[in-house]
Amino acid sequence: MKKLFLSTILLLISALTMAATWEREQLISTRNSSLMLTAGENEPLKIAYYGDRIGEEERNNIHEAWVGLNRDAYPVFGTTCIFTNAMQVTHTDGNMTLDLIVKDVVRSNTNRGEKVAITMTDRVYPFAVTLNYETHYEEDIIETWVEVQHNEKGIVTLNRFDSSYMPIRKGNVWLSHLHGAWAAESWLTAEPLNHGILEIRNTDGSRNGHYNRPEVMFSLDGEPSENQGRVIGAVLCWSGNYSLRIDTDKSHMHHFFAGICNEASQYKLAKGETFVTPRMAYTYSQRGIGGASRNFHKWARNGMVHGCNTQRDILLNSWEGVYLDINEKDMEQMISDFAAMGGELFVMDDGWFGDKYPRTKDNSSLGDWVVDNNKLPKGLQHLINTAHGKGIKFGIWIEPEATNSISELIEKHPDWVLQVKGREPHYGRGGTQLLLDLTNPAVQDFIFGIVDNLLTQHPDIAYIKWDANVELFNYGSTYLPQDRQSHIYIDYHRGLVNVLQRIRNKYPQVVIQACGGGGGRISYGVMPYFDEFWVSDNTDALQRIYMQWATSYFYPAIAMAQHVSASPNHQTGRSVPLKFRFDVAMTGRLGMELQPKDMNDSERDFATRAIAQYKTIRPIIQMGNLYRLVSPFDKQGIASLMYVNDDASQAVFFAYKMEHFNNMNVQRVRMDGLDALKKYKITELNVPADKQPCHLDGKIFTGRLLMNTGIELNLDSEYASRVLMLVEQ
Ligand code: DGJ
Repeated sequence: MKKLFLSTILLLISALTMAATWEREQLISTRNSSLMLTAGENEPLKIAYYGDRIGEEERNNIHEAWVGLNRDAYPVFGTTCIFTNAMQVTHTDGNMTLDLIVKDVVRSNTNRGEKVAITMTDRVYPFAVTLNYETHYEEDIIETWVEVQHNEKGIVTLNRFDSSYMPIRKGNVWLSHLHGAWAAESWLTAEPLNHGILEIRNTDGSRNGHYNRPEVMFSLDGEPSENQGRVIGAVLCWSGNYSLRIDTDKSHMHHFFAGICNEASQYKLAKGETFVTPRMAYTYSQRGIGGASRNFHKWARNGMVHGCNTQRDILLNSWEGVYLDINEKDMEQMISDFAAMGGELFVMDDGWFGDKYPRTKDNSSLGDWVVDNNKLPKGLQHLINTAHGKGIKFGIWIEPEATNSISELIEKHPDWVLQVKGREPHYGRGGTQLLLDLTNPAVQDFIFGIVDNLLTQHPDIAYIKWDANVELFNYGSTYLPQDRQSHIYIDYHRGLVNVLQRIRNKYPQVVIQACGGGGGRISYGVMPYFDEFWVSDNTDALQRIYMQWATSYFYPAIAMAQHVSASPNHQTGRSVPLKFRFDVAMTGRLGMELQPKDMNDSERDFATRAIAQYKTIRPIIQMGNLYRLVSPFDKQGIASLMYVNDDASQAVFFAYKMEHFNNMNVQRVRMDGLDALKKYKITELNVPADKQPCHLDGKIFTGRLLMNTGIELNLDSEYASRVLMLVEQ
């Protein structure tokens, strides 16, 4: 028996490429950060350090100064089973423990940095765990993930399988995280870490961005600051259920674990199969939360969000303009009106499809992706041509992962929806909505086909809004075998990514928005395939300032779809000036979400000028570096942020009055990210026709004054706002 184990371990090791000589200490560095692991052969892998970049000569210093973390790099449930851990399995013989030691280290270069793969095997069982680390050198990001394999006879059950563990030295450590609800996504909470276990978790099943978010910042030097103090940022790249746990126990550490949530998700791993966890991306910054955000933004623009090398079009989306009342006349009129204002892309939202069951209410037709000829007698191509005739592009809404109990699709394929045998289904939106079973390859083909058919028949569709409005109810698959039902939560998302990859392979150019009934699909699990996401179904400009602020902790402006909508706002009922609405929407990918024919002449005139001005600042916003200046969450009466281009020659500054009282003290705002030695000329943008530009317009200031002393804003009315462009002189 012993012999057999030994030979399988040897087999495993020899299969894993390199000869077994490596340096005991693995120093993994980016431009400004370092992670150090102690990988002694036949010893457990330890994490010694994560923080400011250290050089070769400081390796020993870490130990000499006793500042090494010296923790298992990937704690497992083993003989010391009293501690929180990252992995727990059941072996074929019923044994529930692991005892992992280092067997192999492989280092290689990548085009972004380097990859380090450290394989550990169980001392007794032919069970191997590889911890992977991949650096994005310039962006100061280290991605880490785990691969699990075994050679046991039969099935090993993975009961818990986190992507990562990170020990954080106790101190005045604060956690910042995002949470919310539909139309109230992305509230920000910052709290000091205290004893006990804090879990951030999601079990929506299909979208994971509505309530909590799998992205956190740890401020190591007390209350979070935008531009000071050490920060560790952490982002889980997974679109399904997750669990982020911080266990603050009797030790000197906060123990941070993150991965797929193991709720009803025991994974049955066959001999020779590899289970790969999602990636966890860490960044470290000495420049506060703002520094960590800018690292994530660069990483996102360099590949984690699709298509960021191209600037995004200004679009009008039909939803809040006509809702489901799509008809040819209105579509033509919206296209024409928007083109006249300088718009670049028109998107027809929900309501255009359904033959036997036309989509007149939200309770039918999903899955029946054919044009409703009564609403659009001349068909899709006519609208596309109309848009082109007006010099703008055309986009369309779909919700490919779902169907309704009233649809031709479910009549044809009742087995394609997730369902629990013998139980009445639980329905979502409209009292009829069901989720397709993406674990099933036939369903994956169908979903790929929806996009493929649209783009084959109409190759000049430039944009797709991919919506997802239903949770993963009815936990049961007719496709997966009985003993693999616990794979649904995981295999659903693997199926989704598989479809998205196929779409991207064939259609790299089309811009695709991830929408999840608002902000439900804000997730780095899928953003490598989507160009942008819908921040929220709430388009109220005031609340959007909070949402966009918090979302920008982790996501870049180019990915954030921000639309100017009607006033009073449809979600909050608040009335806000058009200028304020534009000034808020312009900090991301600008769009509109209203019926243009309801705008009066002066509103159209303002919108036309604002759209033209956005075009001039678009590169700075969509490709520039974000500096958040005054947080709306700090309740100072204002909020302010700015974008600066890479060589600090141009910048755009935004400020908003968040509340209004007589004689209230509005603080001076100090800019950031400029070059102290440069001089900048200020031009105010988006000035209403009946107003004068502010006192700063046309003046030239040094970067030093703008950053060290700051500017007075003179925001003298309710919902006053300013957009200032700064150009180096
Ligand atoms: C939810 C989305 O968030 C909205 O923008 C809109 O597309 C509706 N679905 C359409 O049903």
